[in-house]
Amino acid sequence: PAPGWATEADVVVVGSGVAGLTVALRCAAAGAKVTVVTKARLDDGSTRWAQGGIAAALGEGDTPGQHLDDTLVAGAGLCDEQAVRTLVTEGPDAVRRLIATGARFDADDATGEILLTREGGHHRRRIAHAGGDATGAEISRALVEAVRAAGIETVENALVLDLLKDGSGRAAGVTLHVMGEGQRDGVGAVLADTVVLATGGMGQIYSATTNPAVSTGDGVALALRAGAEVSDLEFVQFHPTVLWLGPEAEGQQPLVSEAVRGEGAHLVDADGVRFMRGQHELAELAPRDIVAKGIMRRMQARGAEHMYLDARHFGAEMWERRFPTILAACRANGIDPVTEPIPVAPAAHYASGGVRTDLRGRTTVRGLYACGEVACTGVHGANRLASNSLLEGLVFAERIAEDITAGAESVGVESAGVESAGVESAGAGGPERPAGQTGPSTPAASPAASGDAPLLASEARYEIQHIMTHGAGVLRSAESLARAADRLERVQDDAVAQLRRDGKTAEPGVETWEATNLHLVARVLVAAALRREETRGCHWREDRPERDDAAWRRHLLVTLRPDGA
Ligand code: SIN
Repeated sequence: PAPGWATEADVVVVGSGVAGLTVALRCAAAGAKVTVVTKARLDDGSTRWAQGGIAAALGEGDTPGQHLDDTLVAGAGLCDEQAVRTLVTEGPDAVRRLIATGARFDADDATGEILLTREGGHHRRRIAHAGGDATGAEISRALVEAVRAAGIETVENALVLDLLKDGSGRAAGVTLHVMGEGQRDGVGAVLADTVVLATGGMGQIYSATTNPAVSTGDGVALALRAGAEVSDLEFVQFHPTVLWLGPEAEGQQPLVSEAVRGEGAHLVDADGVRFMRGQHELAELAPRDIVAKGIMRRMQARGAEHMYLDARHFGAEMWERRFPTILAACRANGIDPVTEPIPVAPAAHYASGGVRTDLRGRTTVRGLYACGEVACTGVHGANRLASNSLLEGLVFAERIAEDITAGAESVGVESAGVESAGVESAGAGGPERPAGQTGPSTPAASPAASGDAPLLASEARYEIQHIMTHGAGVLRSAESLARAADRLERVQDDAVAQLRRDGKTAEPGVETWEATNLHLVARVLVAAALRREETRGCHWREDRPERDDAAWRRHLLVTLRPDGA
């Protein structure tokens, strides 16, 4: 469809979590004209749901060096050490600037010192939190208020479609599908020399996830269609303790923060046995992948659908003061953690990989930056350390804003410089645009995407989730992944067959574009997971149970060729 409207900005930021809003605020403060576009409301992304907190070496005796060590261990040999050093060194001041922006963290009444908790993989108390267990909601509140106070232009209910490029291949803006926003309804464009992707994650490729419904991998899909390099998609982190609501539970599930274990809760089986003891020196506070595996193994051994988190010993007062959000979610589902153990099981939580960037957030496409969960800066490696995600969004947002406002011509990170073993097209198929639709065009720029694979029907979302949950979930094998790859291909074949038969694709709209994006990222993820023939971090291959440093201490990079192959 031709764009019905177009606006111009210096910088268009896509997404409104901690990463996007921090970039927007810092760029606007330096005098840039910024437009923030976001798929739902400004506070509807993943940031709002973050519970445990934000990690930074703020406590007495803690140092960035210790934070670095814990991050590298969790990352299972695949972190970029320079990126991690940047994160942990710049983290404490970035948190202080966030506080200056208006975020209020829990602090000691007498001394005013920020209170710190522990989470998996951290050897120290270094997690700052707000509202007990509502850290993301407080950060989101503070940043949304600051963006509004700064008068930054925002467009809500705007699903990003594709990157626009100028004749030289440089980013030139984005196309959007907007609903219910008055004059800007329908397909339109924001033209801008600089595009910052801060679209969050892709948890909705699985049936059960802690992610909100908007986390459909739109940024990674856009970047792939635009020819940008994507890395480490096989490393999907499953949070060990998600409230178990039955085998049929689908969509966003309530998280039970690692901070609950950080404050002393125990993981037990139905007989009350603390099964993580003896598996790791940190027991329940081992890095997240190890705890998730420990739970899954125990579930398999016992033929159980879930384990339990026992924190009855906290007592009512501590539950109410420290974990009010989790307490309310449990009680809303008929479980009282004050008097009974909480049923928990792992569920999809975080994409450790994403659009590859350098330390300034530059992607391999000039003028295109990526920040937050959508990005792969190298800080997470094969398994993100708990509470490093809000910090990554914050630190790299500031670096991106500095790069943009310094006026440096963004040349883009050198493609595939250090890593090898790109999975080329990874069998991911073509960029999936509606057949017969050339995408919005403008006098200044043209869409980066091409190809004519059909738009998928909105119901494909559930089929994709089912395929991914059974074939590429917390436990995978060559066989399950190959089956998933076949079934994903069939989803597209069916859409092509329908197009041939009926002469039209699914109706363009948010749900059909989301399903199409989910399908593209799912195919790339499965191809990468098939290719990585080892177990490392949160990539757990039953048929290749060992970590293989000789063959696999490297990254899988993916780009789609211009013809979509
Ligand atoms: C949690 O509170 O357990 C989530 C923290 C995170 O994902 O980093």
